[in-house]
Order: sequence, then structure tokens, then C-alpha cells
Amino acid sequence: MNDILVLYYSRHGKTAALANLIARGIEEVPGAQARLRTVPAVSAVCEATEPAIPNSGHPYATLDDLRQCAGLAMGSPTRFGNMAAPLKYFIDSTSALWVSGGLIGKPAAVFTSTSTMHGGQETTLTSMMLPLLHHGMLLLGIPYSENDLHTTETGGTPYGASHYAGDDGRRVISESEKRLCRALGKRLAETAIKLRAPFSPAST
Ligand SMILES: Cc1cc2nc3c(=O)[nH]c(=O)nc-3n(C[C@H](O)[C@H](O)[C@H](O)COP(=O)(O)O)c2cc1C
Repeated sequence: MNDILVLYYSRHGKTAALANLIARGIEEVPGAQARLRTVPAVSAVCEATEPAIPNSGHPYATLDDLRQCAGLAMGSPTRFGNMAAPLKYFIDSTSALWVSGGLIGKPAAVFTSTSTMHGGQETTLTSMMLPLLHHGMLLLGIPYSENDLHTTETGGTPYGASHYAGDDGRRVISESEKRLCRALGKRLAETAIKLRAPFSPAST
């Protein structure tokens, strides 16, 4: 089995819902399974205040989750046009993995949720790509052969999957947003499996 890590932070559940949809797309691909992991909130005081295992939801990610994955989908709510601090904090703990080159050549994709339509989905998506490029990952977006990219009136971008949640967060995830999440998960899993396939001289 090829484990595709779906790593996300979510405060109010919208990015978590996108993570689940991406996981469904991943698991549509034979030979791929989604491993869902989150990261704890950070606090202004230095001492850790969260239990090591969350009371509910997915387990917290470890460096081994990253080391072992065949591909990575990474998601965060938009915070001032950028990824949220808890996800950045976790990424900043990955130096040992960067030194060993553990993520080089693995495919990756990104996703986000915003309260406003033009409040920074694309900037947040690209902000998440930057550390992944430093890690040597191969970034995937969503191609315009996905018809929903042409017609969506909410989220969904060529840079990654997204959701427009509304000021009060009450908007449901639209059918287009859902299909684009699943398409991205499927594309990521298919690419991870292709990249892991043994080299065959006959296919060159
Ligand atoms: C500190 C902070 C900054 C935010 N910045 C933005 C922003 O720049 N643009 C935007 O549209 N929404 C912004 N939001 C709203 C969240 O991105 C939005 O509510 C998102 O859907 C939450 O995702 P979640 O349910 O996974 O926590 C911000 C929220 C917080 C708490």
C-alpha cells in the first residue's frame, strides 16, 4: 500500500472537511490509502499545553508520517492570506528531514478554506508550496481538464483545492468544491504510485 499523508490544521472544521474529501479521492485509487493527520494549536507561552493525543479528530502528525508517505496533501485555513501558524510551526520542525532529503521527489498538493471569496486562497496555497519546494517535493495542482474549474462560483483553483466558507462559516462545501477535492486527491495518489513504479527500460 502507498500511504498518502493528508496533513492539515483546522480550527472550525472546514479545512478538516476538505481533508476528508481529498482522502476519499486518494482512496479511489487502487493501491493507495490516506493517512489523515493534524497538528496541535500553538500558544503564546512556551510550555506545551495540549495532550500528546488529541481528545477528538485525527492524530497529530509526526516526522515519521512525513518520512513514510508516498505523497502529501497539506491544508490550512487562510490566516491573513497565509497558512496558519500551527501548520507553519510543524513545518519548521522538519529540518532533520530536509537535511536527509527525505521528501525529495515525492508529489505534494495543497488546500485551504477562507471566509471570503477573494480573501487570499491563492496566496495561502502558494505559501504552503514554498516550504514543500525547499524539501524538493514535486507540486501538483488541478488541471483545467477538470470542468469544475471553469464553472465554479465558489472555491477550487488550479493551485489547489479550496472552499469559500463565508463570514460565519455556514456555507456548505459546494458540489464543485467537493469534486475538485476528490480530483486532487486522486491525481496525487495516481502520481505517487507512478513515481514509485520500478523503472522499466521497455517503457522508455
Ligand atoms: C486570525 C485569522 C485570520 C484570518 N484571515 C483570513 C483571510 O485573510 N482571508 C479570509 O478570507 N479568511 C480569513 N480568516 C477566516 C478563515 O480562513 C476561515 O474562517 C476558514 O474557513 C476557517 O477554516 P477552518 O474551519 O478549517 O478553521 C481568518 C481567520 C482567522 C482566525
